[in-house]
Amino acid sequence: MSHTDKKTPTHIAIIMDGNGRWAQQQGHERTFGHQNGVEAVRSVIEGAGEMGIRYLTLYAFSTENWNRPKEEVEMLMTLLVHSIHNELERLMANHVRLMMTGRINDLPDACRNALEDAIHQTAGNDGLTVILALSYSGRTELTDAVRKIASDCAKGLRNADDIMADDIQHALYHPNIPDPDILIRTGGECRVSNFLLWEIAYTELFFSPIMWPDFRKTHLAEIINAYQNRERRYGKIGEQVREH
Ligand code: FPP
Repeated sequence: MSHTDKKTPTHIAIIMDGNGRWAQQQGHERTFGHQNGVEAVRSVIEGAGEMGIRYLTLYAFSTENWNRPKEEVEMLMTLLVHSIHNELERLMANHVRLMMTGRINDLPDACRNALEDAIHQTAGNDGLTVILALSYSGRTELTDAVRKIASDCAKGLRNADDIMADDIQHALYHPNIPDPDILIRTGGECRVSNFLLWEIAYTELFFSPIMWPDFRKTHLAEIINAYQNRERRYGKIGEQVREH
């Protein structure tokens, strides 16, 4: 694969940041930004499907987000339930398979039930897979993986000296989903904020100044285009990755 070939990314992950600031800039409550963020989610899911992306992971709620004011947390959970109900028909029509990553048991019952139901209903769809990261953090995912492995060691099922990187990979929430090719963060901040820490080892990072409620599939297409003009070397030198 030459670096000039236009390879479609398989997996795109997005930190959807800037909802609160977008709303406050217009003199509204922060929650108004979350409501308008749903339109951006819709556009990006549609665009990713059209562009042949296989996996789209969206950071909808971090473990740290539980520390926000109670009203904002409640509003986000309610918005999630409503959005799942409202969008389910469209997801089915577009052959989208819904999944989640994170600690599902942390979510309020209504939210967990709506999510599990939508995951079940869309499980047979063969188009884009949308993975909602909810009550997710990269360090929590790694902590849960370490717990699984340590418990196997304590039971004598594994030997600590034999643990390899692949064993850690297999203990993650979704070991078979390929690592993201692209990580996008909207809203102008340039940090990873505890998202997919293991999985983004070789991911191309893109930081967009656009606030999430204004982000659309056209912006996604621009980023994919920029990605296709970057060269991924995985620790090798340019000549080596350009050989094939
Ligand atoms: C970050 O903006 C955004 C969130 C914490 C929530 C994301 C939720 C949505 C986009 C809506 C619902 C999602 C789905 C999947 C239907 P922020 O509040 O941190 O913004 P700020 O940095 O400007 O404060």
